[in-house]
Amino acid sequence: MKALGPIGVFDSGYGGLTILNDIRQHLPQYDYLYLGDNARAPYGSRSFDVIYEYTWEAVQALFDAGCSLVILACNTASAKALRTIQQKQLPHFAPDKRVLGVIRPSTEALEVYSKNKHVGILATEGTVKSESYLIELQKFAPELTVTQHACPMWVPLVENNQYQTEGGTFFIQQDLKAILEKDPQIDTILLGCTHYPILKNQIEANLPTHIRVISQGNIVASSLADYFIRHPEMDEKCSKQGTVTYWTTENAADFSTKASQLMEQNIEAVHIKL
Ligand code: DGL
Repeated sequence: MKALGPIGVFDSGYGGLTILNDIRQHLPQYDYLYLGDNARAPYGSRSFDVIYEYTWEAVQALFDAGCSLVILACNTASAKALRTIQQKQLPHFAPDKRVLGVIRPSTEALEVYSKNKHVGILATEGTVKSESYLIELQKFAPELTVTQHACPMWVPLVENNQYQTEGGTFFIQQDLKAILEKDPQIDTILLGCTHYPILKNQIEANLPTHIRVISQGNIVASSLADYFIRHPEMDEKCSKQGTVTYWTTENAADFSTKASQLMEQNIEAVHIKL
């Protein structure tokens, strides 16, 4: 009999909860194991080597817990670590397991949203510098004019629950102004960091109303549903009791309180060490 396990969902902190939420709405029958590396977040301004090392440690912990499929619900980890894990680690250490990211599905969906083909991408410094979005969009939608902008303060604002303060609003306004100065024609903005949907109301309130703001949750959820249709052998390895378990590398009580507030649902986490 095949060993079944939950779907692993990884983020540097709380951001991946926004992706998990949408995935669970689309695919409620599966079991999920969420891992937030809150003790080491934010990842966004860290070097390639460090992000890669942290991400691979987290993926191995999820594999050890029985996950056959892990979603990197973190753009920074997807940009800096996914390819190396897929090409170098999995063939040697876990040939039967799979790791998927959030950048490819987002770029595939992005071109359908913009009318005038001017799109903006807000993300962490790591994601912006990796140029992963530019490289992928060049393949799928070369007709798009793409403007990237890094918002290094936004993840700390979410992780420290400061986003609804005056200071939080200041940084949100500053970065939105900066991306629109780079390309005033932008009609669509992708939130290319999974923490940013938590700020979506504030972002929309500070943008002209004709600009459409897109979060990745639904895009990633549809892409996962499609993946299972194309890969029934992976679907068979995923247990289906509709449960969700939360792990954090930080204090479990703190994570539970903040995550419950952010997601407006009761979340109880367990502390783990990586
Ligand atoms: N949620 C991560 C992302 O999507 C945030 C990264 C960070 O920790 O800076 O990029």
